[in-house]
Amino acid sequence: IPVAVTVTVDTSKPGPRIERDVYGQFAEHLGRGIYEGIWVGSNSRIPNTKGYRTDVVEALRRIKVPSVRWPGGCFADEYDWRDGIGARAQRPTRVNTHWGGVTEDNAFGTHEFMNFAELIGAQAYIAGNMGSMGPREMGQWVEYMTSDSRSTLANERRRNGRDKPWKVAYFGVGNESWGCGGNMRPEYSADLHKRYSTFVKAPPEMGMKKVASGASVDDYAFTEMLMDRARAQMDAVSMHHYTFTNSWEEKGNATGFSEADWASVMVNALRMDELVTRHSAIMDKYDPEKRVGLYVDEWGTWYNPEPGSTPGFLYQQNTLRDAQVAALTLNIFHRHTDRVKLAAIAQMVNVLQAMILTDGAKMVLTPTYHLFDMYVPFQGATPYAAFVTNARYTSGGKDLPMIDTSVARATDGTLWMALVNLDPNRPARIATNLTGTAIGRILTAAAMDAHNSFENPNAIAPAAYSGTVIDGKLGFDLPAKAIAMVQIAE
Ligand code: AHR
Repeated sequence: IPVAVTVTVDTSKPGPRIERDVYGQFAEHLGRGIYEGIWVGSNSRIPNTKGYRTDVVEALRRIKVPSVRWPGGCFADEYDWRDGIGARAQRPTRVNTHWGGVTEDNAFGTHEFMNFAELIGAQAYIAGNMGSMGPREMGQWVEYMTSDSRSTLANERRRNGRDKPWKVAYFGVGNESWGCGGNMRPEYSADLHKRYSTFVKAPPEMGMKKVASGASVDDYAFTEMLMDRARAQMDAVSMHHYTFTNSWEEKGNATGFSEADWASVMVNALRMDELVTRHSAIMDKYDPEKRVGLYVDEWGTWYNPEPGSTPGFLYQQNTLRDAQVAALTLNIFHRHTDRVKLAAIAQMVNVLQAMILTDGAKMVLTPTYHLFDMYVPFQGATPYAAFVTNARYTSGGKDLPMIDTSVARATDGTLWMALVNLDPNRPARIATNLTGTAIGRILTAAAMDAHNSFENPNAIAPAAYSGTVIDGKLGFDLPAKAIAMVQIAE
């Protein structure tokens, strides 16, 4: 018997816009994220466009990726941007000490990344090295990319094949300075941010936003210190939160998990709401005008690596459970649009909660990809408050909301509603206060760990879905463990 649920939408109080960049992604020099995942080189037998694999580029263009963060991650604070410019044959080979100890031949550098971002229609979010290089090098990288002058650096860029400056929309001053970015105290990190950001100068008309390397998960003291000491030198502060099955020590498996693991992942993903709320409250104290954004520029699920894969490559399968995490997380961001102006899922291809998995020339789209595809109308949309009543999902001592929702008016004026059923066993019959009809797509499957493999790439994909009528109003019959996204004809 379906569980009766009520969703009430308040269209009288629209919230601040859902910035498109909340749908951003992260691509690091890690495992097969860049090499094979994006870049195969123009001599590859894998079909490519000037070295970028054609299948991946086309898939990314379809989901309208608004921004990409690169080159790390932890990699960013070891990266010397000069290694990745000029003739490829002359570029140095380095050891990627963070990720698998493999050699990095720097074939994918600044030009390859910036051109990739342009190719998929995304804005560039560059993460600079505050951990192991100086502020002069950081400033020079920005000048190399963004200057239209006749300076030596701008001319070097021209000689390397790019005449006009690129637009760098976002620049991260370091990454995880509390950890792999330098193991700094918050006080020191705040001081370094001020020092480095002083020398990071793009042409003012570019409007490049400077992002301070911020807190891990619930390190509220870190946010407090940055806001107190360094807010004048930043446009945003970052925060990272990964969803493990239980904890960093007990990451759990990407497939073949129990219902207890499903529920635990949902609890850990939903924690994002508390994190954003509490970091935002600290920011409100120092920045009541909300000038400084909170950028959740690393989020997503992190499980044990797939058996047989290189552990340092962070390669994991991606299931219906991951799509649920993505839906819940994006819905949370939609409820915090006053502060969360950008987010980046970790990561784009072959790493952690990936959109896309590749195996040589083969490619599969993951359930997370399909969720991002379904949610495209939310990019730039105006959100409405929506309240859910009468529904809990309990499992193994965990007590969760059964239904989650997000409602927003898209840029073209159409109304969209997402509905998520977290319960893997019980369907819901959802009554709303809206009128009209609803059609769209649903992502669901018989198994909690339904996923796409190279042998069966379409095991889970969105299907057609429509609303129904309950007591003369718009309603929905939503299966267990399902995500629906519908356009409402009012
Ligand atoms: O996304 C993988 C790693 O997680 C990133 O390199 C780092 O910033 C974070 O700890």
